[in-house]
Amino acid sequence: MIKKEKIFRTTKEVVKTARRRKNSSTRWLQRQINDPYVRQAQAEGKRSRAAYKIIQIDEKFNIFNKGNSVLDLGAAPGSWTEVALERAGGITIAVDILEMDDIKNAIILKADLSDEVSSDLIKKLSNEKFDVVLSDMAASTTGHKQTDHIRTQALAELAALYAVEFLKPGGVFCAKVFQGGTHGDLLNDLKSNFKSIKHFKPNASRKESPETYVIAKDFKG
Ligand SMILES: C[S@@+](CC[C@H](N)C(=O)[O-])C[C@H]1O[C@@H](n2cnc3c(N)ncnc32)[C@H](O)[C@@H]1O
Repeated sequence: MIKKEKIFRTTKEVVKTARRRKNSSTRWLQRQINDPYVRQAQAEGKRSRAAYKIIQIDEKFNIFNKGNSVLDLGAAPGSWTEVALERAGGITIAVDILEMDDIKNAIILKADLSDEVSSDLIKKLSNEKFDVVLSDMAASTTGHKQTDHIRTQALAELAALYAVEFLKPGGVFCAKVFQGGTHGDLLNDLKSNFKSIKHFKPNASRKESPETYVIAKDFKG
């Protein structure tokens, strides 16, 4: 008799709800187990499935060129940074508010990017500007659609400020934004600073996730 365990049945793997595990955690686990990108990431030794998002973005938009320098905002656990090093390989700085394990050839900075001093900390690490600024920054979701939208939008706006401050003329900015893409002040800002602005949701971005990505090319400087 099933009393304290509820069993989730799908056509794929089955995850049991343990006594203290919330239904949302069970759903997360279920999704992880059945996600082909999670399996691929494990098989290929990637730090997270997010690697395939930036790989698919690069395959479509050619954001990395050999030798490019990259500033990766909201970089933990580091799979985008590793892809950037493989595909570009210039000076690469990875910033996150969280602790990150070392990545060979990357400079890792633990900092809150919403804190004004963070920009000076980045400048201390490199006095050169960057060819590419990436931002996969995300706040933990609340489940409240509007709140999540506002928080993601705020992080995308913050990332755009860093892009304008740190990109070389001709540089590329790629950032996570909320479904529907950039709009309002952020879109106007990008339009005045970049020659080309595209939105793209890579296959590796889960369909149910409200995220999409903006790819802004050719920074006017
Ligand atoms: C989706 S994860 C990034 C995954 C990463 N692209 C990868 O491939 O491994 C989003 C990250 O944004 C970071 N983040 C959110 N707000 C931040 C802030 N204000 N300053 C620095 N990092 C932040 C989070 O700590 C989190 O690690």
